[in-house]
Amino acid sequence: MRGLPSNVYLKEVGPRDGLQNEKQWISTDDKVAWINMLSKTGVSEIEYSSFVHPKMIPALKDARDVGKRIIRKSGVTYSALVPNMKGLEYALEAGIDGASVFMSASETHNRKNINKSISETYPVLTEVIKEAKNAGKIVTGYVSTVFDCPYEGRIAVDDVLRVCSQLIDSGVDYLSLGDTIGTAVPTQVENLLEGLFPYFPKDKLILHFHDTRGMAIANIMTALHMGITRFDSTVGGLGGCPYAPGAAGNVATNDVLYLLNGLGVETGINEKRIQEASIYIQNKLGKTLPSRSVAYLKNA
Ligand code: HMG
Ligand code: MG
Repeated sequence: MRGLPSNVYLKEVGPRDGLQNEKQWISTDDKVAWINMLSKTGVSEIEYSSFVHPKMIPALKDARDVGKRIIRKSGVTYSALVPNMKGLEYALEAGIDGASVFMSASETHNRKNINKSISETYPVLTEVIKEAKNAGKIVTGYVSTVFDCPYEGRIAVDDVLRVCSQLIDSGVDYLSLGDTIGTAVPTQVENLLEGLFPYFPKDKLILHFHDTRGMAIANIMTALHMGITRFDSTVGGLGGCPYAPGAAGNVATNDVLYLLNGLGVETGINEKRIQEASIYIQNKLGKTLPSRSVAYLKNA
């Protein structure tokens, strides 16, 4: 199809965004085994855990052990979520190639998620970004609620632009734009990207869709046509943000692969191995994952 990129970079955020909202405890052994399976799928990057306060995200309280025990495959970037200097200290000790800092475009979500106003967050993240860069790490800045906020409703492009500019000025390598509650439709994607393109190169932008309303694939298609080549996803469509009521999981890696393979866009990922990793975590969680491809495989 005309106007599509030849290659797409997928970041597997299942071990972080996928597990962070799960009530069912997944043992450290099982997490490590699962991440090792994901490492063999051909995926470019794995966000393996989160160095946040363990009381906020109990499902990932073993981040340090996970980081120390996973078998790192050459060519795969291992990143983790880092909210502050304490998180960075633990993450560097556990081993990361990339640090993902995060904040929101909406004041209320930012406060509920990280207990600070937007303006109080900048100095914290600026220090983390500087120290992570000094340590030679790739830094991604997540901006949540770039389309809609569960508390404030529709978010203005200017609000997103302001946060993105601050993060870029502080030195992030990439910006990951989060449809945190999975409500955006393609016109919102087009509108936001048109607002950001004059200020940021397309190859610095990652899109992070949750799939609450089933619009993520349509939104990815829109972004692909606009020249975006980096996306986040989770195997099986696992996930959700505990501080964003109503948010469903991320777009499923399986479904994104079905789309990209069908379009002839390269990812380097083996679809069958992604299905195996989906079935593995589905069995550990004891529930059916939302990806259409997993359901298809199960019934096949
Ligand atoms: P706070 O309570 O304001 O932190 O939490 P504080 O600096 O005031 O410290 C309070 C206590 O926490 C202290 O301990 C610190 O040492 C400890 P005490 O002295 O009382 O014993 N502490 C820590 N312990 C372990 N690890 C740390 C850490 N930091 C402080 N890193 C904080 C602020 C940011 C830490 C907290 O609010 C937090 O952990 N929030 C994380 C929430 C979260 O993980 N949300 C989900 C991820 S974001 C997401 O899903 C969206 C995304 O996917 C994109 C999208 O979809 O839009 C990325
Ligand atoms: Mg998310």
